[in-house]
Parts: sequence; C-alpha cells; structure tokens
Amino acid sequence: MNQKQTLTELFEKTFGHQPTHYFQAPGRVNLIGEHTDYNDGYVLPCAIDYQAMIAASPRDDQKVMATAHSYDGQVTEFELSLPVPHSEEAFWSNYVRGVATVLLEKEMSLKGVNIAIIGNVPQGAGLSSSACLEVVTGLTLTRMAGLDVSLKELALIGQQAENEFVGCKCGIMDQMISACGKEDHAMLLDCRSLDTRLVPIPENAAVVIINSNVKRGLVDSEYNTRRAQCEAAAQHFGVKALRDITLDQLEASQGELDELTYRRARHVVTENDRTLAAAEALGRGDLEAMGRLMAESHLSMRDDFEITVPPIDGIVDIVKAVIGSKGGVRMTGGGFGGCVVALIPAEKVDAVKQAVTEHYPTCSNGLVADIYVCRASRGAGEA
Ligand code: GLA
Repeated sequence: MNQKQTLTELFEKTFGHQPTHYFQAPGRVNLIGEHTDYNDGYVLPCAIDYQAMIAASPRDDQKVMATAHSYDGQVTEFELSLPVPHSEEAFWSNYVRGVATVLLEKEMSLKGVNIAIIGNVPQGAGLSSSACLEVVTGLTLTRMAGLDVSLKELALIGQQAENEFVGCKCGIMDQMISACGKEDHAMLLDCRSLDTRLVPIPENAAVVIINSNVKRGLVDSEYNTRRAQCEAAAQHFGVKALRDITLDQLEASQGELDELTYRRARHVVTENDRTLAAAEALGRGDLEAMGRLMAESHLSMRDDFEITVPPIDGIVDIVKAVIGSKGGVRMTGGGFGGCVVALIPAEKVDAVKQAVTEHYPTCSNGLVADIYVCRASRGAGEA
C-alpha cells in the first residue's frame, strides 16, 4: 500500500467518511550553507521525495480534530474559537496547534477540519520532518478555509510556529525549501530578502543522504548557543547579522574577538561565500568544484563551528575515499548527528552504498546507517 492509501485508510477509520482533500509538503536536504540562515546569509537546499501528507475534510463546527499515523492513530482536538493550548500527551500535534495559533494571530478566519497526517521523512535525522509538517498544516488550514496565502508566507508562518509555540529558534531555510522547492532543482535562498534562484541539479548527479542514526535534538542547547555566539560576533561589528561582514573585515579584527567567537564567525562568513560559489558551480554542472566547496564546508563545521561528531566525520571520509574529486560530501543540517549528504555521479551510488555498509559500523560503535538515494522534488501543494 502506498503512503496515500495508508493515509486514506487511517482517515476513514478515524472519521467514518472519505477525505475531500490531500496536501503534501516535502522534507529537505541542504547541499551547502549550514547555520547561515539565521545569520541572514545564503543556503542551497533541495526538497526531497519524502514528505508529510495530510488528508482533510471540512467540519461544520470550529474544531480541528487530528490524528497521526506515526503515533498509532492517536486523536487530539482543539477549538479555533479559543486560545489553542499546548498538548502534553500528543506532542506531535503542537506543530499543528502552533501553525493554527499563528494563523489565528494573523486574524485569518479558519474553518473546522478533520485531518489525518502521515509522513515518511525520518524523524530526528535533520531532514526537516517538523518543518514539512508545519508547512503542510499551514497549507491545509488556509486552503480548507478558502484563503489564498502564498507559499512564502506559509513558510514564515511555519517558522514562527516553531520559534514561538514549539520553542526552537530555527532559521527560515527548512520551511522555505519545503514550501517552494522545485523538481530536479536546488534553491539558492537569500535568507534576508527571501529571494530565491533555482539551480538545476545535473542529470547525471545523484543526491545521496546517509543517515548516521546518531540521535540529535534540535531544541537542544547547542543550536541556540551557536546562534547566540553568532549574534555576539555581529554585535561586535555593529551590524545586523554576520551576513554583513567580509572575511577581510573579520580577519582584521581577529585580536578583538575571543578565539571561540572568532571561529564561529569565520565559519559563517566563509560558508556564505562557499554557498554562493556552489550555486555557480552546480549551475554549470561542475561536480568537482562542488566537491571542493562541500569538503571545505565540512571542515569548517568540524573545526570552526564544532557541530560534527566522529561517526559523521567517519561517513564523510568513507564516501570521499570512493568518489575522490568526482563529487562532494559533507554533514547536512543542524549537526550533532543526523545525516551526511553526497552529490555524486550516478554511477558511483552502488560503490558508496557498499563502502558505507561495510565500514561505517567500525567507526560508529556498531550503528548501521540508512541510505536514501533522493530525487530533488517539488515543494508543498495538493497531493
Ligand atoms: C536546522 C534549522 C535551520 C538551519 C539548520 C542549519 O535545520 O532548522 O533553520 O539553521 O539547522 O543550517
């Protein structure tokens, strides 16, 4: 049974009738540009062919009644005419509740709905399972109320829900790519202006995601600590964000910053430059140049930003030994575990899979990796 059929079955079992609408929003993988989004910088992610999907039907009251496949069909409900409370027992529903809250704060008149949710984005792996749930929820609640809210705005609403309701101070990358991704393309996003430029992924290139299965927590202090360190560095220069600093400026002031803040800032400043260069390289189909930039990005995350862990560094080395200069590999996402992304010639996929399967357990204390060969996919929409 495919995802949509399973979802339909869950919906019918829970609500006793057929859904009238289906919506989806994809997870994402970031090719390059890590921890740059909340510094008003650049990122180059693509949406992947794993997604959150919602089946919905209208209700004739002001209630949202929701169920989720990954949580054994647990059912939760809340009223749109009252302040929406957090849920302790149905934690997953806080993404739905958060998005509803932000929409209501914006005085959008929502309508009661029944919704069933299913997703196949691995949770806690750094592939944006939360962001795509926020985006697909925003899409569902607005479309079911007949409201034509733009995808960009839905991304911002999702981010606001995560920042204010769920309590994670994430940037805008994940929601923007989930909302606005395009098939077979990566998206260069300017996280200050929210301008986007689509960059085709070369036909012969495969996007491979290797999940280390090292568990990570984003709401976790490390993410917010990095953010605070970046803000402190920007403040030192009297600018709004690290986006406004060049490497020359940073180097000229090296003695004025403490060593740790300096290295954190150096990661962000150099990563922004690499991301812009990567968009050009990818656009001309230059996988070798992508490979160099992705390698530098990984070292910068490992040594300056200090967000990688040994099993992740291990995967990067294993893949690099197979692909040489013909493609790139780096950790992707927030860090401290999660996934590695590789952009490689399609004919290397089998060799990479084999090498990771064989060698990863020896550098991970026996953990086994999951490997996904992905296709860059369209952003949120009807399903
Ligand atoms: C997480 C956040 C994003 C971004 C990345 C790091 O995925 O949700 O906003 O900051 O980490 O690049």
